[in-house]
Amino acid sequence: ASESLKKQGAKGAKFARVHVIGAGVMGGDIAAWCALRGMAVTLQDIEMERIKPALERGKALFKKRLKSKREVDTAMLRLEADPKGKGVARADVIIEAVVEKLEVKQAIFSGIEDQLKPGAILATNTSSIELERIAEGLKDPARLIGLHFFNPVAQLPLVEVIRSTFNSDAEIGKGAGFALAIGKSPVVVKSAPGFLVNRVLMPYMLGAVKRVEAGESKELLDAAAVAFGMPMGPIELMDTVGLDVGQSVARELGQAVPAESKFAGLVSAGKLGRKTGEGFYKWVDGKAQKGE
Ligand code: NAI
Repeated sequence: ASESLKKQGAKGAKFARVHVIGAGVMGGDIAAWCALRGMAVTLQDIEMERIKPALERGKALFKKRLKSKREVDTAMLRLEADPKGKGVARADVIIEAVVEKLEVKQAIFSGIEDQLKPGAILATNTSSIELERIAEGLKDPARLIGLHFFNPVAQLPLVEVIRSTFNSDAEIGKGAGFALAIGKSPVVVKSAPGFLVNRVLMPYMLGAVKRVEAGESKELLDAAAVAFGMPMGPIELMDTVGLDVGQSVARELGQAVPAESKFAGLVSAGKLGRKTGEGFYKWVDGKAQKGE
């Protein structure tokens, strides 16, 4: 497969500079991962308060994966806060990972399209929105591809390279080449609601949520899934993904979360899971607090 990807254009492409827009759960971790793998990364967000903790998480990752203090310090120099988006014009790869809202993503892409370097990869990390809908506002919709990373980025090698009907082999080959260059495992998939993994995984998680809403113990359900061989139970996973993200993916898949459900109640209360300290579970120091 990697041979054919090379033929499609991955070969010889250089990816020295990466610009990430959105410094939340995913954007922050994608930026840190690219810096770990040697790229110069600029990280943009509308809120500086999101960039700072992302850089801290980056530092923790570098300390874990790199041997010397010198290497950690050098990696930190490669990961730069860029609230104004100055890195866009220089970047070889631009990855958007802002909130899962079509209008926000479209506005970002039309705002930066004129600044891009020729040949730069333009990618979205959307988990559920069909690529064509994001791309249709661009002057050149063929530029946009999906690079869909999985959470937690540092632990999961899979990257879905999403191909829209506008794309040619050149953009897809380059996207897959970039994923390989940062040590990930690309799989090319067609644009469709939920793409490949979420299309299968989300109904599983929603099925578990339904059981919990019906009174089943979430701890028991998660423990059963782990005993079955899953690395993490479905409720803990939903909290890790983020309830707001889960709700958007569910909607895209035509399985909207009922307004009167506990799930919807948690989202309206801002209890979005691990990232806010509470979702189905309470979270302390990155660990779900399991009571039963
Ligand atoms: P998040 O809510 O943690 O982060 C979103 C960030 O975008 C926030 O820091 C926010 O300040 C920023 N933002 C909003 N509007 C912006 C703008 N106009 N310009 C710059 N920054 C802006 O969300 P998360 O979970 O990181 O998701 C981001 C994207 O990644 C979404 O498209 C989501 O569907 C996708 N995704 C999420 C996964 C997950 O497990 N959470 C997994 C794979 C993809």
